[in-house]
Amino acid sequence: MTDTTKQDRVLIFDTTLRDGEQSPGATMTHAEKLEIAGLLDEMGVDIIEAGFPIASEGDFKAVSEIAMNSKNSVICGLARASFADIDRCMEAVKHAAQPRIHTFIGTSPLHRAIPNLNMDEMAERIHETVTHARNLCDNVQWSPMDATRTEEDYLCRVVEIAIKAGATTINIPDTVGYTAPRESAALIRMLLNRVPGADEVIFSTHCHNDLGMATANSLAAVDAGARQVECTINGLGERAGNTALEEVVMALKVRNDIMPYRTDIDTTKIMNISRRVATVSGFAVQFNKAVVGKNAFAHESGIHQDGMLKNAETFEIMRPQDVGLAGTSLPLGKHSGRAALRAKMGDLGFDLADNQLKDVFVRFKELADRKKEVYDDDLVALMRAGDDPE
Ligand code: KIV
Ligand code: ZN
Repeated sequence: MTDTTKQDRVLIFDTTLRDGEQSPGATMTHAEKLEIAGLLDEMGVDIIEAGFPIASEGDFKAVSEIAMNSKNSVICGLARASFADIDRCMEAVKHAAQPRIHTFIGTSPLHRAIPNLNMDEMAERIHETVTHARNLCDNVQWSPMDATRTEEDYLCRVVEIAIKAGATTINIPDTVGYTAPRESAALIRMLLNRVPGADEVIFSTHCHNDLGMATANSLAAVDAGARQVECTINGLGERAGNTALEEVVMALKVRNDIMPYRTDIDTTKIMNISRRVATVSGFAVQFNKAVVGKNAFAHESGIHQDGMLKNAETFEIMRPQDVGLAGTSLPLGKHSGRAALRAKMGDLGFDLADNQLKDVFVRFKELADRKKEVYDDDLVALMRAGDDPE
């Protein structure tokens, strides 16, 4: 028996092309999906959830073609708890060197009421559908949707059924972003302790960000023994989105001292894929978004800029190069100080003596009061105006 919780490797399962694309307005074209899948594969994502094959002909074709082109990643498709969904999913993912079927059903009282199944009937449905999926594919993931609002005893019961029926990964979704970090950890720990056979499968965490806790909840689940994190680029996803891949990966890298787990992601590819997903989905990244926001490595205030020019560690906990940026940016604005102005002027070829700097700084501040950001061209103009003999 393998105790997966003792391993330090965390699998990254990206669902940008499935849960991410479900965000209203984020629909991507076939070509865009293939491009994003290629970038995910290249950056070292372990499992790509490429779509929901029964949802539409377009989704089926996209999953099939992503499967055909896959190199290193496992290619996964989503299926409800029905034989027709599972068969369609297998038809699409079968082209991959490493296919996975992901089947799910809502197990909380609210979700059980929708197909109008009682607890026993739902348990039977799970047994039948996971067995069916496993007869088609060696790699089967099962999810009890809305797990965090499902009664603990029932959750244990259905997880055990899914494991016995052949599921190799058990994913625990916080479908509505309701859980908190302590609870997220306790739930994974409880399942690992109580469910027979739990140590033979990988436990996975799938969090939504309705209360802004998706990343914290995912990391807490990892600490408790989950070894797969489900996430999306830029946190794209329904409502407030899913756990952001770049946040989890960089948190595990930067705080490896307290979270000693590793992923296989090439972090230098983060910025490029973040920009491509923003462009193709039409969902711009907020300026102050962790890791990939425009301002994540930018410093405008004089004190911060002065610190950064002396030692980058004063105000940066990760190197911009580690996420694929050329470097830190020190935009000049009304909060900037002399040190940053002198450095920027030096970059532009103006080596300023102290008295010149004093004079230019006064004029720079006047300009900065009028403009949000002072650009290189503004500075050159400022220098030229200073040279005017009139
Ligand atoms: O949030 C959710 O519950 C899901 C499932 C389909 C895994 O996306
Ligand atoms: Zn989801």
